[in-house]
Amino acid sequence: MSEQLTIITGSKAEKYEAMLPQIKSLISGEQDLIANLANVSAVLKATFDFFWVGFYLVKGNELVLGPFQGSLACTRIAYGRGVCGAAWQRGEAMLVPDVDAFPGHIACSSLSRSEVVVPLVRDGKVWGVLDVDSDLLDDFNQEDVDYLTTLASYISNNEMR
Ligand code: SME
Repeated sequence: MSEQLTIITGSKAEKYEAMLPQIKSLISGEQDLIANLANVSAVLKATFDFFWVGFYLVKGNELVLGPFQGSLACTRIAYGRGVCGAAWQRGEAMLVPDVDAFPGHIACSSLSRSEVVVPLVRDGKVWGVLDVDSDLLDDFNQEDVDYLTTLASYISNNEMR
């Protein structure tokens, strides 16, 4: 397993292109779910300096906070609640340019202004979500959704327990 991360400067796309294969090789040699999600959060934080980035995992009828980087966060989110719960319910990525305009948004931090949430899907079932928040309005676009969806598929395709 590589324990060194090469972060390049450049466009957002260039950063994702450089980061994704590194994450793939980082997690491919490890089967522990928490260890991998913790490292993926760290790599995303180091590469993009996201305000908050991390995982919520489906446990029963709730999402429960998993590994993350950023400030204190809500520990449990009900099915369909907030942006994360909506991504789980719909089984699709949510791009929210202004969290205050999203009905039911859960404000873990009042500084969070925009976010993107991508479901983690295995065998057609959502088992968690990747949540990325920004303290800037309208900070994400379809490029983030596409690259983060690719990342989510790497994670879901990696054998982990
Ligand atoms: N913003 C999320 C809640 C999680 S925190 O932002 C970390 C939501 O509305 O689903």
